[in-house]
Amino acid sequence: MDNQLFVLFGGSGDLAKRKIIPALYNLFLNGKMPERFAVLSLSRKPMSRESYQEFIVQSVQEFSRNAGDVVDKARQFAKHMHYLSFDAREPNDYRRLKTTLEDIEMANHLPQNRIFYLSMAPDLFEQVALYLKEYGVTQNSGWRRLIIEKPFGHDLASAEALNERISSAFQEHEVYRIDHYLGKEMVQNIEVLRFANSIFEPLWNNRYISNVQITSSELVGVENRFGYYEQAGALRDMVQNHMLQLLMMVAMEPPSRLNTEAVRDEKVKVLRSLRKFDSSDVTQYIVRGQYSSGEFGVHPLVGYLDESGIDPHSTTETFIAAKVFVDNFRWAGVPFFIRTGKRLNRKETKIVIEFKNLPERLYFNQNGKLLTNLLTIHVHPTEGISLQLNGKSPEQDGVASPISIDFSQETKDLPEAYERLIFDAMRDDSTFFTRWDEVKLAWKWIDPISQSFANGHPLNLYKSGSSGPKEAEELLRTDGHTWW
Ligand code: BG6
Repeated sequence: MDNQLFVLFGGSGDLAKRKIIPALYNLFLNGKMPERFAVLSLSRKPMSRESYQEFIVQSVQEFSRNAGDVVDKARQFAKHMHYLSFDAREPNDYRRLKTTLEDIEMANHLPQNRIFYLSMAPDLFEQVALYLKEYGVTQNSGWRRLIIEKPFGHDLASAEALNERISSAFQEHEVYRIDHYLGKEMVQNIEVLRFANSIFEPLWNNRYISNVQITSSELVGVENRFGYYEQAGALRDMVQNHMLQLLMMVAMEPPSRLNTEAVRDEKVKVLRSLRKFDSSDVTQYIVRGQYSSGEFGVHPLVGYLDESGIDPHSTTETFIAAKVFVDNFRWAGVPFFIRTGKRLNRKETKIVIEFKNLPERLYFNQNGKLLTNLLTIHVHPTEGISLQLNGKSPEQDGVASPISIDFSQETKDLPEAYERLIFDAMRDDSTFFTRWDEVKLAWKWIDPISQSFANGHPLNLYKSGSSGPKEAEELLRTDGHTWW
């Protein structure tokens, strides 16, 4: 890997502390950082380099998966960290940034290879891209890359405007739009499961699959992110990016090669095949919900409208269930059910592939219904797969009963999503990052839905700590399915 300088915008923020710094530290610990590297963190807080290094040690102790006996290692790592107090709106600060980068590079014998990570308020993204270019920070002699957090725009128009601004400073191949779901072990494993096993691929189509269910449920509520969340809602926060990415990984055709563009090309084709909603049929296919008060175990939970910072008349959705179709040769007629929400009864991300039933001529259980075969890809908290099959009932002849084949892996020592993705960006592999045409097509598909929401699409309340609004159950029941 090339020697490089990592520039972290938002270096004292929550994401930096919880995810980015621990990820860099774990890479360091596992010998995956380049031979020579430095990190320059930027944030508005005035802070000395020493206090920032202390912040690093704490963040690593608190949040790294290798948090055990780390103080020495963490201090060693912190020596690579530099700090600059920086206001992203202030042109002069970009002049200081440029000279600081050059000084660090000189002192550490680094080539001018720079990776910029924007982990900051999204309304600053455009400004930063503009000034990086204008003040010559991206006119370096080595390579440059930009890692950018979501949300990439708020709708198609704003995403296009942002992209235009970014492309004036960075070429598309230099832009790494991060979607941390693509860094999850089991999400990356979908490709291998599908394309390296002869028992799945022949069945992976509308002849054998009855429906696909993609769930990402959370226990947490809006937390302290009300400013952002009120604007985003579950649709923009989870569906436009994470849920569609999971869908693409399940539905894509085999790529011609396992290279970045071949994989992304196939994902884009899925988005092109997604059936568009127009504002009149959204109600039929999409359920939106908002959590009301409830409880988790013995803990009472307030409703969304009573959360601090939330407009008491807000119609922002905290839950979405959708029935979507990939209108191509492979998937014609197979519904993909997507469901995501906050303040539900569990934290879980999984994909369930439900296979069609065989004619129930030979085996049937007492209710006359053979259980369907299910392939479940467990993304979180378990990482693994399970396959539900039918076997002979040990008690009764001629009766089939379900058996399950399970594989799960020990997750403790596995790299986390951010670790994998940052490592990829540092070594110039953007396979698991979102290409511009993916973002664009995703917004094109989302915009009519948000339009329908703005026009008063029904908002169903659900109790905090429950499994979501009953209307989400109905969405499947009309097709004879239930959520697994
Ligand atoms: C983020 C969303 O992208 O993903 C959050 O902004 C959400 O609202 C989070 O809580 C969920 O991620 P994970 O990895 O915990 O499923």
